[in-house]
Amino acid sequence: MSKPIVIAVDGTAASGKGTLAKKLAAHFHFAHLDSGALYRLTALAVLEAKGDPNNPDDALRGAQTIDLTLAGGPSIRTDVIGRAASQVAAIPAVRAALLDFQRGFLARPPGGSPGAVMDGRDIGSVIAPDATAKLYVDARPEIRAHRRWQELQAMGIVRDEGDLLRELVARDLADKTRAVSPLIQAPGAGLLDTSDLGIDAAFAAALALVSPKVEGALKDRHRG
Ligand code: C5P
Repeated sequence: MSKPIVIAVDGTAASGKGTLAKKLAAHFHFAHLDSGALYRLTALAVLEAKGDPNNPDDALRGAQTIDLTLAGGPSIRTDVIGRAASQVAAIPAVRAALLDFQRGFLARPPGGSPGAVMDGRDIGSVIAPDATAKLYVDARPEIRAHRRWQELQAMGIVRDEGDLLRELVARDLADKTRAVSPLIQAPGAGLLDTSDLGIDAAFAAALALVSPKVEGALKDRHRG
């Protein structure tokens, strides 16, 4: 059996990386995992147990008791959970506890799919440094804050856009400067700035960046 094809999509909060990862997975018929959901589920477990997301023992217990059935639901999409997710994500024991699940997903994509797309912060740098193709997605902070504001509004959560911008910048800084698995543009990752692109144009740009490598790997599989 040849190794599964992996597309690593990393980037800042609300940069569009999740939407692009999902669309890439659908395009290539690959499995998809939003790794941020694992940290959000950990945060949810900690807060529901009345724990402290900055406390390593509470956070590890949370990572060990995540309920994957909630991954696609709205309960982990709030800004409160996003902030707590960033806190638990800075704790090395939490990242270690979630590592096997992520590597296992890439080694054996569900449904017997020939490949997987995973989005997050450290996929191209730590989880899958030898990924077939890597993307780093970013956008100007004001644009990302506006997107987050729209997302929350659609969920019935009304927030001040200026506050969201400040929180987003703080979260970027925490994610980029933490000691373990900081957010970086991984070696070999193509940069995609979605600031001035709609979904269709952003997807076309993403496809142009990853397709040569992914198509090449798919051909090798058919030959091999
Ligand atoms: O992408 P999302 O906003 O859902 O991620 C929530 C938080 O989880 C991020 O701010 C980040 O701290 C953390 N995360 C991470 N590594 C990943 C994915 C998410 O540290 N691979």
